[in-house]
Amino acid sequence: MLVKQGLIPAAGSGTRLGPFTKAIPKELLPVGDKAVIEHVVCAMQIAGIEEVVIVVSPHKHGLSDYFGSGKRFGLNITYVVQDERKGLGDAVLAGEHVIDGPFTVVLGDNYFAPKTFLKDLIDFHIQNSGETTVGVAEVEDVTRHGIITPSGDRILGMVEKPSPEQAKSRLGALGAYVFKRDIFDAIKRTRPGFKGEIQLTDSINIQINDGRKVLYKKIDGIHIDVGTPRDLMKANDWYLNHNINGDCKEDL
Ligand code: G1P
Repeated sequence: MLVKQGLIPAAGSGTRLGPFTKAIPKELLPVGDKAVIEHVVCAMQIAGIEEVVIVVSPHKHGLSDYFGSGKRFGLNITYVVQDERKGLGDAVLAGEHVIDGPFTVVLGDNYFAPKTFLKDLIDFHIQNSGETTVGVAEVEDVTRHGIITPSGDRILGMVEKPSPEQAKSRLGALGAYVFKRDIFDAIKRTRPGFKGEIQLTDSINIQINDGRKVLYKKIDGIHIDVGTPRDLMKANDWYLNHNINGDCKEDL
């Protein structure tokens, strides 16, 4: 079944990028000539997504000011509000009433290149009849990611931000996923963890324990989680040094 909808969680507070984030959402900070989240929207467009659902916090009007209806991208962009910051699982659940089929999720504060990464992830998911597919890569710092236990192309389990000793591999979730609607059921069954947050990682573990086909695919290329000023500089440095044109076209 084709994947026509994309959901972008963009309700985080961005405290490490203050004081800018007191005024604007971190997802609107620039990487090159566009906001970091626009690179994600472009990747969705390239992947054949027709409707993008952006999950915003109640105070984030900036995102709808920036994108409007999505017409200039040839996409339909809608907005849903996550009332409280209760974790990534909760942010995905906020889209339940507007998602009506298989969908992709990409975090709005992550920069990926080349932008075909998402098309490749979705193609893999469809070709392998995945119920859930998690985009991963070898990560430098396992304590910043959901780390998988791989077996063949399947995931046997995931641990959110383990210590280096606990980590069963160096393959970390990069914040790009493909789901079917039944992830919502798993999220509803997920107990809140640290700080009362519902971790998407825990919901995926529920699916694995239910015997669902949960796959992973390695994402090649550049991935930068734009969480700190240094990350933002790194993403800009990479973008500007690769002479990327400003349209929603393929980089490189
Ligand atoms: C989230 C996920 C984590 C994933 C990461 C990718 O964490 O919970 O599993 O590896 O995104 O950036 P966050 O960065 O929101 O704390």
